[in-house]
Amino acid sequence: MQATQLNSDLYHVDPDMSALCRDALRLITFEATGHMGKWEYGPALHSDDPGAGADLWSKMVSTASDYYVSRSDAELVQWAISQECLKTRLKDTVNFIEFGPGSYKSVTEKTLPFLTLSEKTRTFTAVDMSRHFAYEAAWCATYGTLIKGTGLQADFTRPLVLRNEGQSCYFILGSTISNMPCPAGSNGFQDLVKFFSTVLSSMEQDDFFVCTFDSCSNLDLIMKAYNNLPARNHGINLAYRLKRDGILLGDYNPAQWQYEPVWFSDSSQICHTIYPLISQRARVAGFDIDIPAYRQYVTNNSYKYNPEFVSWAAVTAGFHDTQILTKGTASLIIARK
Ligand SMILES: C[S@@+](CC[C@H](N)C(=O)[O-])C[C@H]1O[C@@H](n2cnc3c(N)ncnc32)[C@H](O)[C@@H]1O
Repeated sequence: MQATQLNSDLYHVDPDMSALCRDALRLITFEATGHMGKWEYGPALHSDDPGAGADLWSKMVSTASDYYVSRSDAELVQWAISQECLKTRLKDTVNFIEFGPGSYKSVTEKTLPFLTLSEKTRTFTAVDMSRHFAYEAAWCATYGTLIKGTGLQADFTRPLVLRNEGQSCYFILGSTISNMPCPAGSNGFQDLVKFFSTVLSSMEQDDFFVCTFDSCSNLDLIMKAYNNLPARNHGINLAYRLKRDGILLGDYNPAQWQYEPVWFSDSSQICHTIYPLISQRARVAGFDIDIPAYRQYVTNNSYKYNPEFVSWAAVTAGFHDTQILTKGTASLIIARK
């Protein structure tokens, strides 16, 4: 990977700049890395839009047969909801809050079965940066279960204020917690603790938290999961979105960029990288920035966590009574505030 650093002091980021523009500038100047995951599920502006992250993600999880992560996650959730430890602990849940429900397939295969864990459920809140995913999940819950569903387009890495009465369960599926904003080679522990602490700060005493994560250690399987056409189309969509939404201008041309998943074994981390095949000069937020050919940018990460690692991160953040369930390559943690 390219190790060259740009001097980010030269590109002072205006705090009022729109969030996507600010994050793109921080990426291009190496001021931040691996932090673009939340921008990778954007809307389609026309048919066959290569910057339509949400559509490309839905296509990836339904057509990429090598993308084992979704399949294993669905098998885990469908098995886990029949397990006594989950049934007993969540039986009095009145409000379910899901962070990042994602595609219709995920909602029907995992979210709706998960909501059956309590007979006392009255509300379901779907929080997603993708407005489409948030509203669709809320709609599915309202019509699929007769629970009052609400869609919220929001960033779940920030504290949320939800005024719900009764016990709540916050949950995150699909190994979304493995998308930590870290540099290549970092084990991501502190970022996971920070994220868990933020979730905890939105919760009331005795609320529950559940999340699933991928623990696969078979490198062949891992590389195949991200090295296929639907995964590459999703991996490169941000490059197109940045042009489409007027963030990167000048002679920046996303058609000359490629996506590559890169494995770091010491940190059990896939770095999702993008790089240009030829040099180009991008204009962003009023700055002209030269981008040499093959300079790689880490847009997002997919960690493959050891269950003990996740458990330690949850306890360090302040969760209690943590318990892990594992099925195949997928694991789930349940914890209490
Ligand atoms: C890896 S996908 C998982 C989707 C689904 N849970 C599944 O199991 O397939 C991550 C989801 O989280 C959403 N997301 C990612 N980062 C987010 C953030 N910071 N705030 C809100 N939503 C976010 C994405 O839009 C997407 O729907």
